[in-house]
Amino acid sequence: MPAPGGGPDAPHRPVLLHETVQYLAPERGGLFVDATLGLGGHSEALLAASPQTRVLGIDRDREALAYARRRLAHFGSRCQLVHANFRELPRVLVEAGEREVSGVLADLGVSSLQFDSPARGFSFRHDAPLDMRMNVESDEETVAQLLARLSEAEIARIIFEYGEERRSRRIARLIVERREAGRPVETTAELAELVTRAVGRKRTDRIHPATRTFQALRIAVNRELEGLAEFIETSVDLLQPQGRLCVISFHSLEDRIAKRTLRRLSGHCECDVRAPACSCGARRAVEILTRRPVTPTDEEAEENPRARSAKLRAARKLGPDEQD
Ligand SMILES: C[S@@+](CC[C@H](N)C(=O)[O-])C[C@H]1O[C@@H](n2cnc3c(N)ncnc32)[C@H](O)[C@@H]1O
Repeated sequence: MPAPGGGPDAPHRPVLLHETVQYLAPERGGLFVDATLGLGGHSEALLAASPQTRVLGIDRDREALAYARRRLAHFGSRCQLVHANFRELPRVLVEAGEREVSGVLADLGVSSLQFDSPARGFSFRHDAPLDMRMNVESDEETVAQLLARLSEAEIARIIFEYGEERRSRRIARLIVERREAGRPVETTAELAELVTRAVGRKRTDRIHPATRTFQALRIAVNRELEGLAEFIETSVDLLQPQGRLCVISFHSLEDRIAKRTLRRLSGHCECDVRAPACSCGARRAVEILTRRPVTPTDEEAEENPRARSAKLRAARKLGPDEQD
């Protein structure tokens, strides 16, 4: 089976694999939800760790599911794969006839299969229609449709908030100018060229000038931040006592949501000290196992540039006698 991302011999390296498996502790056995199955790399390691381990893998991208299905076929009925958004986890579990889980993993963002696929429009390395939807069967908008519909101010806000791009207003202006001239931005090459013009390019830049804008539009079109906090809280509720949760994020907005949600679920109240009562929903349901997020070793970052920005946070569900 050829590995995506760099030719037939390039191995697919799941990010922070060793650390994630350590925190999830699959040797305990039971059911593990891989909420972002992707190419199935983390799931494979969980299933290989113990014959008592089962995996329920979820992905909103059917291409990823097809790839992972072939990769994990030899685990037989220990592995069940479902096409869904992880926000639907409670329904997916009920339909699978399961109630509690030993562990949940969310390795957020895009997979190399998506990023490297020339036709999907995630990367400016290939000229393609500006799509970037993780679920191409959905009736959600593509990036091209989003840019054709939103106001200049809304485009600028998305690029600033989700991409932390300082030149967001200028980029939005050029996008809308093109649209008004009857030449809407419709391909990755057009967008990359326009952003490079708006931002400028220095020899010393570590990343391509369009990287932040592409990231922002991908997050917007897939609504990647919506429901993340709820998903983390639901996962904690579904964990059996001593169950583990791992969240791997790739940018500060995601990491902030994971950090704040886990802190609140470890009993840390975020309400104003003058508030008469707590209304943030803080409760002691988990112990946070990672005081600081775990990041890749220099060796992993060197080998896999995509791992560089990864941050892993892990938590353990408390037993009934330990909770509030
Ligand atoms: C970084 S990749 C996961 C890689 C995987 N851990 C591996 O080892 O191959 C993220 C995957 O999560 C999927 N994904 C992202 N958000 C999702 C969501 N809300 N629901 C379901 N799948 C999602 C993407 O389609 C992508 O395939």
